[in-house]
Amino acid sequence: MTKILMVCLGNICRSPLAEGIMRSKFPNDTFLVDSAGTANYHIGNAPDSRSIAVAKKYGLNISGLKGRQFSVLDFDAFDLIYVMDESNFKNVIALARDDKDIAKVKFILNEVYPNQDYNVPDPYYGGDEGFENVYKMLDEACDRIAEKLN
Ligand code: 4NP
Repeated sequence: MTKILMVCLGNICRSPLAEGIMRSKFPNDTFLVDSAGTANYHIGNAPDSRSIAVAKKYGLNISGLKGRQFSVLDFDAFDLIYVMDESNFKNVIALARDDKDIAKVKFILNEVYPNQDYNVPDPYYGGDEGFENVYKMLDEACDRIAEKLN
């Protein structure tokens, strides 16, 4: 079973969306998908209402997800760790114990734009259109991941 972890800062906007989208691309339970935040601000919280709303618009229910913080143990529990931006990348890599851990960490948009290290913009302080934009970016990236792994 391939185990995929989506990581952002708060685990309430981008990574829960990525989790819901990624899960919807895999037809069976040969994949495990989870998400986490590098920060501890939103542990136990539901996703942001704007992430829940944009997911719902596209037929996904992410309202039951709960925020949790990324931990070093996630390097053992997951095969692929997709980060949303450069800051997430730095924070996750700072916890890596060896090259094997480091090799698991990837910018999710590199699936669409190889080697560019583009950021999925943090939509937290913006409006609804930012969430729509993030949804579309993540949907495309998750399509590519699914094509590769399915
Ligand atoms: P996320 O967005 O990393 O996509 O979940 C954020 C959510 C909350 C905060 C920052 C970013 N915050 O500062 O509370």
